[in-house]
Amino acid sequence: MTLDYLTLAKTLTALTTGETDTVALMATVACEVHHADDRFDWTGFYRVVAPNLLKIGPYQGGHGCLVIPFDRGVCGACARTGQVQLVPDVDAFPGHIACASSTRSELVLPVRNAAGVLLGVFDIDSDRPDAFTESDAQELGTILDQVFAEAIA
Ligand code: SME
Repeated sequence: MTLDYLTLAKTLTALTTGETDTVALMATVACEVHHADDRFDWTGFYRVVAPNLLKIGPYQGGHGCLVIPFDRGVCGACARTGQVQLVPDVDAFPGHIACASSTRSELVLPVRNAAGVLLGVFDIDSDRPDAFTESDAQELGTILDQVFAEAIA
C-alpha cells in the first residue's frame, strides 16, 4: 500500500485541528503516517529538549534510542542544519545511528511551529534501500507545517 498524501492530510487535519499540545500532535502524526505506507518500518519524533539535544518522542515501531545530540546521526544533522535529510543508503551516511540493524534508508524532516521554533525532527526509517523520494519529503513537509503551526514550544 502506497501513501495517498491527500487523504493523509485530510485525516490529520480532521484529527488535529484546534490541538496545540506538541506531544499530542506528534503521537497522532506518528500513528497516522506509520500505518499509511508499507515502506515505513519506524516512524516517530525526536524533540528538542535542551540546546543541541534531542530526546525520543512519540513513535511507532521497535524501540528507538532515547537521546541524540545535534552532532550525531541523521536526526542530529537535520536538527543542526534545519534541512531535510534524505538518506538512500544509511551505511553511506557518516555517523548514522543504527537503532535497528534492519534499517536501510531514512527520511528526516525538521518540525517547526509557525513562529519558526524548531520543536524536533520527524524520522521515518525503511528496511528497503532508497525507499524515499523528494516528493515524500515535500508532501510530508507540507503536512508537518500545517499540523504543527500552532504547536506550543
Ligand atoms: N537512525 C537515526 C537514529 C534514530 S533511529 O533510527 C530510530 C539517526 O541516525 O539519527
